[in-house]
Amino acid sequence: MNTDYLKKYSKKIEHDAIQQVRFERQQWLQRKSNHNYEKALHAIPSFQTSHLALEDIISIGNPEELSSEQQKTLQQVLETYIPWRKGPFNVFGVSIDSEWQSHMKWDRVLPVLDSLEGKKVADIGCNNGYYMFRMAAHNPELVIGCDPTARYYYSFHFLQRFAQLPCLHFELLGIEHIHHYPSFFDTVFCMGILYHHTDPISMLRKIYTSMKPKGQLIVESLGIPGEESMALFPKKRYAKVPGTWFVPTESCLINWIRRAGFRQVSSFFGKELTTDEQRSTTWAPYESLKDFLDPNDSSLTVEGYPAPWRFYIQARKP
Ligand SMILES: C[S@@+](CC[C@H](N)C(=O)[O-])C[C@H]1O[C@@H](n2cnc3c(N)ncnc32)[C@H](O)[C@@H]1O
Repeated sequence: MNTDYLKKYSKKIEHDAIQQVRFERQQWLQRKSNHNYEKALHAIPSFQTSHLALEDIISIGNPEELSSEQQKTLQQVLETYIPWRKGPFNVFGVSIDSEWQSHMKWDRVLPVLDSLEGKKVADIGCNNGYYMFRMAAHNPELVIGCDPTARYYYSFHFLQRFAQLPCLHFELLGIEHIHHYPSFFDTVFCMGILYHHTDPISMLRKIYTSMKPKGQLIVESLGIPGEESMALFPKKRYAKVPGTWFVPTESCLINWIRRAGFRQVSSFFGKELTTDEQRSTTWAPYESLKDFLDPNDSSLTVEGYPAPWRFYIQARKP
């Protein structure tokens, strides 16, 4: 793991606490279930590709840079990291059509986003790094992506072995550790995260702690339609997704963010989720949105709850 930034900023962040969590999480990677991911990571020697396009389809590497043997290995490596939830990517000519058309989310965020030039940025729940690569195109000083899922750690690092973007760093930390970077970040992205936590307000407060005054917060969340400030609390699952706790209306989400201390809180997008954005593909060959909705009434989930919307909020630390 690239530890350079920790040394460089050791006086500004809670270096020992982060090291401690890092140490624990590195033990996770030793688990047998991760052996295939680890092996795949090193299956092709690392080099800096001459082809990098950080656009809607993130394109890393030209096919000619690999031998025909390496091309075969590449296909196996990329299949090892299935499901590819976020993307799309093109890796040395192999097109990865991910479950989510993640560029749609990025296109909605971009018009309201502060310049990232020279900034310190956190992407909480960064998955395979799709948005980190998009951020890198804006010349930030540093992007720290946090995600505690081993498969995403490995898929990000596989891509980064060829992209070699020095500003990008992946930590196996969760949102619950973000306060170990006190007053550190200029911009924090918290997209697709809050409804997975039992206490979204505490998580927002931790984010607040991690941000510099005047810093910009971008929150994107699953939600339900409705004018009232309320959150749905599913009996067990919501749209078949386990670990879903509070699913807010837009005004409820705004109120959470305001009451966590943020100001200039405003919504910039809200719409029901469609299968144009989330669907099953050969690179994510599992159930997806279509299977989560009532087949006779797409305004409801299979559990009979209101079908999912997505809300986008921006806010500032005063
Ligand atoms: C719904 S996805 C959202 C991914 C991405 N941010 C996006 O908006 O497309 C949720 C992500 O959160 C990650 N995650 C799980 N537990 C987490 C935690 N405690 N803190 C931060 N992220 C977590 C998952 O591994 C997954 O990549």
